[in-house]
Amino acid sequence: MFLRSSWSKVVVFALCLAPLARLGWLAYQRNLTANPVEFVQHFTGDWTLRLLLTTLAVTPLRKLLQLPDLIRFRRMIGLFAFFYVCLHFLTYLGPDQAFDLAGMWRDVAKRRYITVGFLGFVLLIPLAITSTNNWIRRLGGKRWQKLHRLIYITAFCGVIHYYWLVKSDHRLPVLYAGTLSLLLLYRVGTFLWKHGPAVPSAGAG
Ligand code: HEM
Repeated sequence: MFLRSSWSKVVVFALCLAPLARLGWLAYQRNLTANPVEFVQHFTGDWTLRLLLTTLAVTPLRKLLQLPDLIRFRRMIGLFAFFYVCLHFLTYLGPDQAFDLAGMWRDVAKRRYITVGFLGFVLLIPLAITSTNNWIRRLGGKRWQKLHRLIYITAFCGVIHYYWLVKSDHRLPVLYAGTLSLLLLYRVGTFLWKHGPAVPSAGAG
């Protein structure tokens, strides 16, 4: 089956890289709008959020569609989310803040959407570092899973970050917030289903 073949990973890798290729192409054509920095910031921010939500959707989708092999792509998609947020952060730190770290900290403390975006970024770092099989072994499956639940907080920070920075049309941030809520509901639902109070059997008492 295609999902099990090594080609499927190549395809997912290429799909995750396609936004970067598009950005490179637009830059090559000098077609990054009148404000290239803002364009790249928005572009990389959008793709970070999309890939974070896609990573979170892998488990529900593999259960609902009965495609267990989808799990093979989760780590790669998550790492691409981290890759795009690094680019996003670098466009902020470089062209926006001129690599002035003191100025950056002032901005992080002053503007609430930067504060929450920064928090989301920082929380992703340990997840990217511990994404290897070696780290799963070192931490043990349960602890690793607990740590990696931080991705929900990162996605939450990302959605709030977006909502707060948008000035008028909130439709897209609200759509992302709705998607994240559905994914969270699914997780809470499956948790309660597994660990909820045992239903007393008929006749017991
Ligand atoms: C998980 C972390 C993050 C996510 C998911 C995220 C996502 C986004 C999104 C979706 C946008 C708006 C894109 C659009 O309007 O089309 C955006 C814009 C922006 N983000 Fe982030 N971001 C994150 C972290 C950060 C960090 C760490 C910084 C800087 C410290 C940052 C700085 C900015 C800036 C400056 C803008 C543009 C604001 C404007 O044009 O007014 N973001 N981000």
